[in-house]
Amino acid sequence: MASDKPRKAGIITSGGDAPGMNAAIRAITRVALRHEMAVVGFYRGYTGIVNEDYVDLDRKSVANIVQRGGTILRSARCKEFMTPEGRDKAAENLRKLGVDVLFVIGGDGSLRGAAALRDHWDGQLIGLPGTIDNDLAGTDYTIGYFTALDTALHAIDKVRDTADAFERIFLVEVMGRMAGFIALGVGIGCGAEEVLLPERPVDLRELIGRIQDSRAMGKTSCLIVVAEGVVHRGVRSLDDRITIHDSTMLAKEIQKETGLDSRAVILGHIQRGGNPAALDRILASSLGAYAVEVALEGATGVMVGVKSQARCTVPLEETWTKHSSLDEYLLKIQRLLA
Ligand code: F6P
Repeated sequence: MASDKPRKAGIITSGGDAPGMNAAIRAITRVALRHEMAVVGFYRGYTGIVNEDYVDLDRKSVANIVQRGGTILRSARCKEFMTPEGRDKAAENLRKLGVDVLFVIGGDGSLRGAAALRDHWDGQLIGLPGTIDNDLAGTDYTIGYFTALDTALHAIDKVRDTADAFERIFLVEVMGRMAGFIALGVGIGCGAEEVLLPERPVDLRELIGRIQDSRAMGKTSCLIVVAEGVVHRGVRSLDDRITIHDSTMLAKEIQKETGLDSRAVILGHIQRGGNPAALDRILASSLGAYAVEVALEGATGVMVGVKSQARCTVPLEETWTKHSSLDEYLLKIQRLLA
């Protein structure tokens, strides 16, 4: 595209959908149109590029979506695009359509896809952090994270009621892949007695010791937030004979040892749905607009993000090669508060 300003933008939402993706689509579209770019939205992430499945977007087509969860462009994880042949096909289609800049809204898999496309296509590639997991380096927050926290918290507040009524132990499994951002945020927000994170080793015997201590101190119920990454990695059973990969089994193991009624709740995909929270709408809108601005300045191969309240860009590769760490202070205070 040499040094000319981009004249046509493409947008995809890819991978796990996240509340706020629509607000980002709207912001990109409206700001790009202001700068006299044409805009197309491809359906189902990279699949839409490979299969030439797209829609022209104008101001009206993105009206009334800032508040809607999901994504009007749909989302998917495209197997074909994971092959060099698939990416060649995508590149060919982007050239055919005259797309100069592609905006990729998604998590690390989607941004890896964008980086891989650079070997096949010389248009501009700009990523936007769209995932509830908040696990991308180069940004303090990802689009969808705040809503996922709220959704999980509303559900857990209800679990707390029944846990209190029955004086039970409840394990609540939250999403986040191999990162504990959702679990830690939710654990602080709901006042969980325990938060099990993939970033920290889990020793079942120690955990049970703490549960028993808190009973001895007069606590009658116990909420344990479990990051899904913990069960994916597995927790050694008390007799050290098996690795437990299931929150329900983990609850049974705790019940067997403590004699206390224990249950597991897996929150699952409800964490991905719902109207975006205020902060996700604002983050998505500002990053959408900013993504277009940096594209106009010629940026490519970067993700836009926000660090200490300032918008920034970060090379795509850094979003998954660099480590994004949990808030040490929250880690420190979690048990003090419980
Ligand atoms: O990355 C977002 C996410 O919701 C993760 O938290 C979760 O592990 C994964 O996607 C679930 O993916 P799927 O919808 O394919 O089951």
